[in-house]
Amino acid sequence: MYRKLPTVQTWFRLPSNSEVHSAMLNTSTLRGASMTPTEIRTTRLLLRAAQIGDLDAYFKWFSDPDVMKYEILSPHTNIKQTKYFLDEVIESPYNGVLYFSVCIPDPAVSNNRRGRSKDRPPMIVIGRIAIRGEEEIEFMLDRQYWGKGFAFEMADALLKHFWATLPHDVVKADVDPRNERSLRLLARLGFEVVGKAEKTFETHIGWCDSVYLEARRPVG
Ligand SMILES: CC(C)(COP(=O)(O)OP(=O)(O)OC[C@H]1O[C@@H](n2cnc3c(N)ncnc32)[C@H](O)[C@@H]1OP(=O)(O)O)[C@@H](O)C(=O)NCCC(=O)NCCS
Repeated sequence: MYRKLPTVQTWFRLPSNSEVHSAMLNTSTLRGASMTPTEIRTTRLLLRAAQIGDLDAYFKWFSDPDVMKYEILSPHTNIKQTKYFLDEVIESPYNGVLYFSVCIPDPAVSNNRRGRSKDRPPMIVIGRIAIRGEEEIEFMLDRQYWGKGFAFEMADALLKHFWATLPHDVVKADVDPRNERSLRLLARLGFEVVGKAEKTFETHIGWCDSVYLEARRPVG
């Protein structure tokens, strides 16, 4: 979700991929306390740093009009666009800290074969999640894996990691009001609506509005 970057006041045209990606990933310093790359495991998922081998999976979602509908960028038509994005994620000091690729065990490999191997079972990448600028959550899941609770599982895990490792009290989100799946997910995660604005972004689907949401550090 790149929605926060260009504002109506400062950006009167559709940005190029490179402009958006650079703005999105421009993280000169880590503001938070002692953060080191890590892996996060949940019941069904592994969240780990992005790798160049994730490129085909990323291109699958970045080129999918359903997945990209409420993004500022239009769906990627060339894998080079996705590679530019992925390279910047990989080079960011936040990769594996607050930017993660989300993996599941490869369903094409049977449980028996997985159990027999001493090595880590083969995984496939089904999505990505990040808290950009130590402030704004963004997520994207392969269309094939929507409606299975994976997005909740990955976002819940990242939020718990964030509260545990950083001193900040708020995580924000900026969502198109028509993006019902995203709004349902954020509500389930405990986000509350704190504001709304009209015509905040002009994107590949025309003018879009914003719903602003916040989650606050759990008490206790
Ligand atoms: C936003 C997005 C990540 C949400 O994905 P999602 O799969 O709908 O979200 P969840 O993982 O929370 O899944 C919830 C659904 O799974 C169902 N589900 C099935 N098994 C489940 C389980 N084991 N646990 C929880 N929910 C489960 C829920 O009932 C729910 O169904 P519903 O959508 O009919 O209410 C996804 O739509 C997406 O990638 N969109 C494109 C990118 C985008 O818009 N990003 C946000 C920009 S602001």
